[in-house]
Amino acid sequence: MRAAQIIRFGDWRAVAVTTTAVPEPGDGEVLVRVSASSLNTVDVVRRDGRLRMLTGRRLPQGLGIDMVGTVERTGAGVQGFGPGDRVWGIRSDTAGMKNPTGLTADYAVAHAHQIASAPHTLDDVQAAAFAVGGYTALRALRDVARLQPGERVLIRGGTGGVGSAAVQIAAALGGRVAVLASARNEQIARDLGAQEFFDYATASPALVGPTDVILDTVGTDLLRWRRLLTPQGRMVGVAFNSAAGLATIAASIVFGPRRIRTFAGEPPPGSLACVTSFAETHGLRALVHGTFPLEDLQDAHRTFDAQALRGKIVITVAS
Ligand SMILES: NC(=O)c1ccc[n+]([C@@H]2O[C@H](COP(=O)([O-])OP(=O)(O)OC[C@H]3O[C@@H](n4cnc5c(N)ncnc54)[C@H](OP(=O)(O)O)[C@@H]3O)[C@@H](O)[C@H]2O)c1
Repeated sequence: MRAAQIIRFGDWRAVAVTTTAVPEPGDGEVLVRVSASSLNTVDVVRRDGRLRMLTGRRLPQGLGIDMVGTVERTGAGVQGFGPGDRVWGIRSDTAGMKNPTGLTADYAVAHAHQIASAPHTLDDVQAAAFAVGGYTALRALRDVARLQPGERVLIRGGTGGVGSAAVQIAAALGGRVAVLASARNEQIARDLGAQEFFDYATASPALVGPTDVILDTVGTDLLRWRRLLTPQGRMVGVAFNSAAGLATIAASIVFGPRRIRTFAGEPPPGSLACVTSFAETHGLRALVHGTFPLEDLQDAHRTFDAQALRGKIVITVAS
């Protein structure tokens, strides 16, 4: 089968599509014939070599932490899934990232708790683009920030992969949604459900004003934006692109309940199934910057590196 791999650490030229054996599902695992997978920041950070401390230096390593496809076969002890089921999955555990194959491949193995039925309201490209952002945004806004109807919520980076899902989820939860993003994306943000829009190139925190909930998907200037919180306000930061940002989140513990909350790693079991039903109930959709067939993996990475994306890059796998 074909698999997207990191073959050395570096820029977009460091990835390749190689031929490798179809993996075998072990106990509790499911083999999925992949239809589409998306490109996430973590893939690029790993490719650059910035996560070597965590995932090791041994290459090749597989790429892809999300996928949508159909179940091919199940390992022993798997219940609730069978051949032909349309599923989506997220696999972002460190052990998985060390594997020579990830989820961007013709076939992928995941634990049964890492997959769920894919939303019938999203086609394969949309589902691949939505999985990680949808899970992250729903967890941040509903479970961590506990956004309440009528509260004002600021989505920093509201037209990115996480942010575009967050705007829709915040609106579905009854929030009054303000978005901070590039001016060129104002109409996109409003179409997703933003009631207020601020251009990040010019808007200061003072202009944006008091906010009950802040979801930060950017990872910089966290303390400046945290000052906008109302007395009962909650802030969640999900971007860990810089050591300074991470240190700020850790140090914010001194603010007690008004600290910057965060989470990382594997979605807790059951959370992707919640995203499926939430997406179906509220008719959520993904913002797709573009699609690339697996053979054009390097082009997909080069496009990511060039930035100025509007939503997710999706790698289409099934021929
Ligand atoms: N904790 C978790 O479980 C988890 C899960 C998923 C993702 N993440 C992390 O979350 C972050 C966001 O992921 P993503 O997929 O949404 O990335 P993304 O698609 O690149 O979105 C980031 C967005 O931020 C915007 N932006 C850049 N600088 C900004 C600024 N100063 N103010 C406001 N907006 C700004 C970008 O707009 P322009 O391109 O127009 O500049 C872009 O739309 C990444 O660091 C990722 O690793 C964490």
